[in-house]
Amino acid sequence: PRPILLTRHGESMDNVRGRIGGDTELRWKLFMFILRFWTVSTSGLWIQFKEKILEVILCKPGDNAVISVYSDTGEIYAKKLSNFVEKRLKSEKAASIWTSTLQRTILTASPIVGFPKIQWRALDEINAGVCDGMTYEEIKRNMPEEYQSRKKDKLRYRYPRGESYLDVIQRLEPVIIELERQRAPVVVISHQAVLRALYAYFADRPLKEIPHIEMPLHTIIEIQMGVTGVQEKRYKLMD
Ligand code: F6P
Repeated sequence: PRPILLTRHGESMDNVRGRIGGDTELRWKLFMFILRFWTVSTSGLWIQFKEKILEVILCKPGDNAVISVYSDTGEIYAKKLSNFVEKRLKSEKAASIWTSTLQRTILTASPIVGFPKIQWRALDEINAGVCDGMTYEEIKRNMPEEYQSRKKDKLRYRYPRGESYLDVIQRLEPVIIELERQRAPVVVISHQAVLRALYAYFADRPLKEIPHIEMPLHTIIEIQMGVTGVQEKRYKLMD
């Protein structure tokens, strides 16, 4: 039997701050690109100075950290995951690593060497639309009706200009077909909502439970599909 290893990305700074969605590193890189483009002077010091200013502007009030994707724990997890995967799949030459197109999963996969990596847009986190980058508290305060509708029916609720769990489940179909077709192990590094849906498919959990399935950070869920059915093992790599 070939295993499928499911894991969320290493803890991000957005996770720590309780902000949903986002793709921090990408936003940051884009700003840096524009900045370099604009800079007339090529002096390194001048660029550094401007980068510092932007860093301050880009931080939301209350965040005084330099913009980074990971928390310290998140970064350690990426290394531990790579050790785990390289050991676990040592003899599995045809294994592959699948990530979303968001920086936090690509970065989590980056220390892993020796296996092909494939990015799937279908593995991107649920699109929170106009709520992207907000905390649940902010949504509750500024958009109380939205907050209540989601609470009432989390499975069907669709974020304005974003997605619902049902949308996510639907877009995962090609990923599931491809996973079923694989002969070799696959490591899927993705996000909370997406992994809830994937896990539910393999563990045969009912649709209505999907948005509430526990999907902890820094844990690998190994699913083995054999002739006797599906077996599951969990590895918690951090305390
Ligand atoms: O908080 C991390 C996160 O991946 C968000 O980006 C996403 O909106 C959320 O989890 C999904 O979980 P829930 O459906 O419980 O809000």
